[in-house]
Amino acid sequence: MGLKLNLGCGQNPLDGYLNVDKYGEADLNCDLEVFPWPWPDNSVSEIQLIHVLEHLGASAQTFIGVMKEMYRVCEAGAMIHIAVPHPRHDNFIGDPTHVRPVVPMTLQLFSRRSNLEWQRMKAANSPLALYHGVDFELIDTTYILEEPYVSDLRSGKLSGDDLEPLLRKYNNVASEIRFRLKVLKDSS
Ligand SMILES: C[S@@+](CC[C@H](N)C(=O)[O-])C[C@H]1O[C@@H](n2cnc3c(N)ncnc32)[C@H](O)[C@@H]1O
Repeated sequence: MGLKLNLGCGQNPLDGYLNVDKYGEADLNCDLEVFPWPWPDNSVSEIQLIHVLEHLGASAQTFIGVMKEMYRVCEAGAMIHIAVPHPRHDNFIGDPTHVRPVVPMTLQLFSRRSNLEWQRMKAANSPLALYHGVDFELIDTTYILEEPYVSDLRSGKLSGDDLEPLLRKYNNVASEIRFRLKVLKDSS
């Protein structure tokens, strides 16, 4: 079993993880925007990035560098858990250190399967997995909703199908998006 990393741990270190942050009292102080990261290839089985990815990679080059480093250090089948503020929520918009909106498409661009499908369809999406030799499968996406949407869903006033257009159209419907990514390498 590989190392478990809690990257950008802040005030919330996790038991059983190497807690890493640029600042403060972490197990390891490390700037995640500086490459290479200090872990060997294929040495990590799990990464937690809880309200961190939106702080990394104001430039496309740095964001892609973070994705490439995650891919390099992870073993085949490693799981990456990501939580970010929803880019159309005031929590995202209001913080000047939030430099990178992350939505499902941001992560799908790093899936080889999606890239090949888009290539077949002659779609214009950037095939970042093929360009950069990485492969992440987006296993699931969960939206954490605000009120009154939580209660309206519970009471049946809203259905699951009503949510997608609301999320596209309005701010402050969801506060957070959670993703699970699987690292695909030859042996996974
Ligand atoms: C919003 S806090 C989240 C902290 C923690 N994960 C939590 O859930 O409470 C973002 C954290 O990312 C860290 N961070 C931001 N940029 C970083 C970088 N370049 N390298 C390492 N850590 C960074 C910050 O220091 C901060 O602790």
